[in-house]
Amino acid sequence: MEPMDKLDPERIEERLEAGRFFHTFHVLDEVTSTNEVLASWATEKNIGEGTLLAAERQTAGKGRMGRSWVSSPHQSLTFSFLCPNYFPESPGFITVGVALACTVGIEKETGLSPDIKWPNDLYLGTRKVAGVLAQTVSSPGPALMVVGVGINVNAPPPSGAAPFAAPPTCLREAAGRAIDRSLLLASLLEEIGETALRLARGDARFVAEGLRQRSLLIGARAKFEWKKRCYEGRVTDHTDDLAIRLETPEGIVTLPGETAHLVSFRRS
Ligand code: BTN
Repeated sequence: MEPMDKLDPERIEERLEAGRFFHTFHVLDEVTSTNEVLASWATEKNIGEGTLLAAERQTAGKGRMGRSWVSSPHQSLTFSFLCPNYFPESPGFITVGVALACTVGIEKETGLSPDIKWPNDLYLGTRKVAGVLAQTVSSPGPALMVVGVGINVNAPPPSGAAPFAAPPTCLREAAGRAIDRSLLLASLLEEIGETALRLARGDARFVAEGLRQRSLLIGARAKFEWKKRCYEGRVTDHTDDLAIRLETPEGIVTLPGETAHLVSFRRS
């Protein structure tokens, strides 16, 4: 049995510079879902951007497309934060921007270089290690998003997690050593905070550039659904507005990031 590692808010706070994006954070032992709880705080308590909620355990963690997110308590990171809806027409910039920030934070802390499976998953090789879920929040003040991140750090999810083509992995397995979750969270928050400040300045170009460098899909054969049609081919690029370029037998098609759905993919 592993000793119970606890997130240490003081050590996390120490690493974050004053005056940066994150100004308030809460670490709770158990919640239903950090996205759900933080969204309700934003609605009911008028809590705003730069607030973070991390939990050691989620009893009803949520994933994209109505899926659930299951992770090992005290061995994972599950946290959410509030930020303005910087690009209401293209919320994908927040999802991909945060995924990108997580790849950088993970790399700095562990030496591992995850790829991004557009638009919100982090992979190590063929196995998923983390996911991002951004949702709009109805709040009394300006439009907000709640953005949640789940990372398998020192253990993969227990059985019962949503089925994947390959079993999910964790950072520890790939790095060959246990990872200090408090240090990792501090590193992620530095990168995510930096990303939020850039997006707030209207700078979004770096998101597509970063995605191209870390994309798991470029070069892969993939199947998408869009407007009730199926598209199959080889992914050639991500456009500046995060659409997918797909080379199909009928020619190149561009599938919008917000509404196209990735059904399956295979890297050769
Ligand atoms: C996905 O891969 O589909 C997204 C997973 C996002 C999981 C995180 S864990 C913290 C936050 N709270 C949730 O309920 N979900 C997100």
